[in-house]
Amino acid sequence: MLPHERPPLAPADLNRINPAIWPRTSTRTDGTLTVGGVDVRELAREHGTPLYVLDEDDVRSRMRDYATAFAGSEVHYAGKAFLCKEIVRWLHDEGLGLDVASGGELAVALSVGFPPERITMHGNNKSVAELTRALEVGVGHVVVDSYEEIARLGHLAQELGKRPNVMIRVTTGVEAHTHEFIATAHDDQKFGLSLNTGAAAEAVRRILALPQLELVGLHSHIGSQIVDTAGFEVAARRLTALLVQIKEEHGVVLPELDLGGGYGIAYVEGDEAPDIKELADGLREIVTKVCTDAGLPVPRLTVEPGRTIVGPGGITLYSVGTVKDVEGLRTYVSIDGGMSDNVRTALYGAEYTAALVSRESTAEPMLSRLVGKHCESGDIIVRDFHLPADLVPGDLIAVAATGAYCRSLASNYNYLPRPAVVAVSGGRSRVIVQGETEDDLLRGQL
Ligand SMILES: Cc1ncc(COP(=O)(O)O)c(C=O)c1O
Repeated sequence: MLPHERPPLAPADLNRINPAIWPRTSTRTDGTLTVGGVDVRELAREHGTPLYVLDEDDVRSRMRDYATAFAGSEVHYAGKAFLCKEIVRWLHDEGLGLDVASGGELAVALSVGFPPERITMHGNNKSVAELTRALEVGVGHVVVDSYEEIARLGHLAQELGKRPNVMIRVTTGVEAHTHEFIATAHDDQKFGLSLNTGAAAEAVRRILALPQLELVGLHSHIGSQIVDTAGFEVAARRLTALLVQIKEEHGVVLPELDLGGGYGIAYVEGDEAPDIKELADGLREIVTKVCTDAGLPVPRLTVEPGRTIVGPGGITLYSVGTVKDVEGLRTYVSIDGGMSDNVRTALYGAEYTAALVSRESTAEPMLSRLVGKHCESGDIIVRDFHLPADLVPGDLIAVAATGAYCRSLASNYNYLPRPAVVAVSGGRSRVIVQGETEDDLLRGQL
């Protein structure tokens, strides 16, 4: 059902905070949302809007859930979802590893002393400088993505006298999105070395020919917002077939398998989010079964969840600026941020839940579109949903589940400063990433 086809909510439903969508510590009293024990009106007063708010207890509890559910395996948080020094500290506290996709992400981790051996370095075009830094600090794994990179890494490793653990990013031909997975035709993308074309097997030959590289395993990442394990099973079977081929051709048994991330979260009513324990049991069972069937020892499993760890614990808080009714169609509610702080709707039609959170309202629902203040008509945060008809400028709107891929994809389009990120817990808020100022926007300009 398309969002605008959903039946309008009753006024009482507009105030509902669905615990599957909103941060774990969210409560609503007299219409006002509280997260981490802090009233959102207080947050807006103290830090201004727009504001990214991260429920620390929620995020940490999801880190712990993963560590517990995947005990005996490795959980490497995918930093691309949202990374800052404080998140790295939480990861360290909760015993998780980290997956970085650039030298910048690596620098954030190293800046607070995160152990390099717990870091996996990703990227389809890592620069010589990025690879050099990764080797010098001794990251735990480098996931190679091309023949050029194998040669480059081999050369650098020799020069620096290092022997990095290497995985190959394999394109298995499985691309999963939500419920369906398509097991063909996805070799046509920039990531990885294809199983179908034999590029992955050739990468194995090239790495094994370089004694300065230690080939330890295969990696695959099959998509995003995945809610069941069916696609992982196909990918694991295909990777295992390659493991068998490697054993037969080279007499080498690779000890590690990394199945990437991509687990889904609930953004709107009716979305399913996989239970982490069930997911862990399912993935372990799959890997054990496919390897046992193939007569191979069970490799050490690594997973790389991003969205599921930081997504649900984040909200974005906005102030309403204008409320424009386009008669017979819908009401455009303009807030003080937009596609510069959340590009996901404009970029790929993401759906979100949003609500009036600064007061109670019993007004009738009005079909609304939550839009930003940028010079793009596609600057939409929530396409079609219902807000109370008595909405006025100054009201606060919160958008749920914005902890992942919002701040990390944020821009300065139209010279808007990127908002601060505050962590809330135990009735207190603290800034973990400062909001940008006009000086920040002008810095570096000559
Ligand atoms: C290699 C790799 N690992 C992990 C992730 C994290 O995915 P998600 O945040 O959907 O869990 C991604 C996302 O693009 C990825 O490319």
